[in-house]
Amino acid sequence: MGKKSLSTESYKGVRDFYPEDMFIEKYIFGKIRETVENFGYVEYGASPLEESELYRQKSGEEIVNEQTYSFKDRGDRDVTLRPEMTPTTARMVAKKRRELAFPLRWYSITNMFRYERPQRGRLREHFQLNVDLFGVEGIEAEIETITLASKILKDFGLKEENFEIQINSRKLLEKAYEPILKNKELFPVMLRLLDKKEKMGVDKFELEWKKLFKEPFEETKNYECPELKRILEILDKRGIKTKLNPYLVRGFDYYTDIVFEVFDTNPENRRSLFGGGRYDELLSLFGEENIPAVGFGMGDVTLKNTLETYDLLPQYASSVDIYLCIVEKEYTEAADTLASSLREKGLNVAVNYTYRKIGDQIKNANKEGAPYVVCVGKKEAETLRFELKELSTGKIEELSTEKIPDAIQK
Ligand code: HAM
Repeated sequence: MGKKSLSTESYKGVRDFYPEDMFIEKYIFGKIRETVENFGYVEYGASPLEESELYRQKSGEEIVNEQTYSFKDRGDRDVTLRPEMTPTTARMVAKKRRELAFPLRWYSITNMFRYERPQRGRLREHFQLNVDLFGVEGIEAEIETITLASKILKDFGLKEENFEIQINSRKLLEKAYEPILKNKELFPVMLRLLDKKEKMGVDKFELEWKKLFKEPFEETKNYECPELKRILEILDKRGIKTKLNPYLVRGFDYYTDIVFEVFDTNPENRRSLFGGGRYDELLSLFGEENIPAVGFGMGDVTLKNTLETYDLLPQYASSVDIYLCIVEKEYTEAADTLASSLREKGLNVAVNYTYRKIGDQIKNANKEGAPYVVCVGKKEAETLRFELKELSTGKIEELSTEKIPDAIQK
C-alpha cells in the first residue's frame, strides 16, 4: 500500500491509561474524594473548553502567553483548553452567586492542558484536584484548606517528615519591599521575578532585580505579620508543620494574600504536590461583587511520583471477579446463563468466547488478573454444578450457581 504505519505513541507529554494505570488513578482519586467529602466539600465539573478571554486578565503571563493550547473554532471564536480550574470555578460561582449558599465548599477532579516541556513531574495534560472555599474572610479558610491538604497526604500513608508545607503572604511581601515599590504596577512585575528566582539562578535574578529597582536585591528583614504567625501557630498546635518561605509567590496574578505550596522532601521529586492561596478579587472580573476565596490545586503526576517513591501504591487487582471459560461452543448458552445469574448478584463476570484450549483460556484469566475461574462444559451444563477455582491458591470448590457469590471473597 506504500503508506507509513501510524505511530502507537501517545501525543507528546500526555499519558495513555492502561488498566493498570487507570487502577492507580482510580485509587488515588477515590481516596481523595473520601477525604475531601469528609471535610464537607461537594463535587462540581465543567468542560475543558473555555473562551480564551477567561485567561487573559488574571491567570499570569507565562501560563497565558506560553503555555496554553489555544485555537480558533469554526465560528471564529478564540478557544483555550483549560490550563487550570480557578477561572472556571470563579466564573461558575459568579454566575449563580445569588442562589449559592456561603460558605461554599467545592471540589473538582478534572484534566488540565499546559504546553510545557515534558519532564519528571510536569506533563502537557494532568489531572488536578481543586478544592476551594468561598465566603470566609478570616484565616479559618487558610487553616482549613491547609489542614485538608495535609490530611490528604496523611491518608495515603505519608508521614509528616515526607512533605513540607511552605507558606507566605503577598501582602507582607508588598509591605516589606514598600520603599522600592515606587508605583503599583511594579508589584506584579516583582512577583513574577521572584516566582522565577529559583529557576533563573542567583546571578541572573540579581541582575534583573537591579534593572527593575535600580538597587541591589536585599533579603527581607523583620519579616513577620500577626496573621501569618497565627496561621503557623494554629496549624502547629494541630500537628501540622508549616514553613515560612518569604520568596514563595506562586505564578498566578489573582492571588491577593496568603499563598502556599506543598513539596515532597525527597529531592527526587522536586515539583510541588499542591499549590494554592487566597484570591479575594476574582469575581469582580465578571461584574460581580467580590467574594473572599481560598483554594488549592493538586496534580496526579507529582502525587503519583511521591507515592511510588515511598512505596505507598497498591498492587493492581482486576475489577473482574470471575472469569468463565467455555469448553466447547455448544456450552455457550449455559455459560451465558451462569454469567447473567452471577451478574445479577453483583459479581463482575467476563466470558471467554474464543473456544481455544482450556489451558490457554485459564492463562488469559491469569493475565487479566481475575481471581476466580469457572470452566463450563458438558458436565456443568447438565448438572448445573460448577468448579470454582481460586487462581492464586489453586483451591477448587464444587458449587451450585446460588452458592458461588458466597464463596467469592470480594
Ligand atoms: P498550580 O500550582 O499551577 O495551581 O497547580 C497545582 C498543582 O497541579 C501543582 O502543584 C502540581 O501538582 C499540578 N500541576 C500543575 N501543572 C502541572 C503539569 N504541567 N504537569 C503535572 N502536574 C501539574 C493552580 O493551577 C491553581 N489554579 C490552584 C488553585 C486552586 N488556586 C486556588 N484554587
